[in-house]
Amino acid sequence: MENESRPAGATIRRIAFWDLRSIVEIEEASYNTPWDKDQLESLLIQPEVEGWGLYVDGKIHAYAILRYRTRHAFVETLTVHPEHRRTGFATNLMTHVSQRVANRGSRSLVLEVHEGNLAAQLFYKGLGFSVIKVMHGYFDDGADGYLFSRRVPQTQSA
Ligand SMILES: CC(C)(COP(=O)(O)OP(=O)(O)OC[C@H]1O[C@@H](n2cnc3c(N)ncnc32)[C@H](O)[C@@H]1OP(=O)(O)O)[C@@H](O)C(=O)NCCC(=O)NCCS
Repeated sequence: MENESRPAGATIRRIAFWDLRSIVEIEEASYNTPWDKDQLESLLIQPEVEGWGLYVDGKIHAYAILRYRTRHAFVETLTVHPEHRRTGFATNLMTHVSQRVANRGSRSLVLEVHEGNLAAQLFYKGLGFSVIKVMHGYFDDGADGYLFSRRVPQTQSA
């Protein structure tokens, strides 16, 4: 099991529906084609989908949305508010999420990264992820996607 050290004052809990407005603000500050409230709602309502948020003083600063598949969990998104990047929030959230998916019996975490998203590539490589597939022309802008994967720490019950 990995250690989970939390930045001072930060807590991690499941995303609630009243967090969605703040999440939309972070989406709009982070992506060219952000998810809106309806898209987030219809994603989070699915039984195999789980959202986790990192909160400081009750305000959400980062979130991860997971989709459980048969043997792995797919990271639909991991996003940190632009004003709070490089403070360890994403690392903290992914450590928490890894333990969570291991407890639910998943063997690995899988996710897609745009070839132009160097920050995310460096971030995931630093956490021990590796590229298992290059998906040519995968994104709407014609860019390649990298499929990253990493095994999760196995719990005794898994
Ligand atoms: C990628 C992202 C989630 C990283 O979040 P973060 O909270 O800033 O990451 P951390 O602070 O935990 O960074 C851990 C390490 O990852 C690497 N890293 C993170 N961002 C980086 C960047 N912009 N450039 C270079 N390395 C970076 C560094 O090694 C960093 O350690 P350091 O700060 O001690 O050098 C964040 O930049 C983000 O939300 N980006 C927009 C959304 C996105 O692209 N999500 C991923 C697609 S699935």
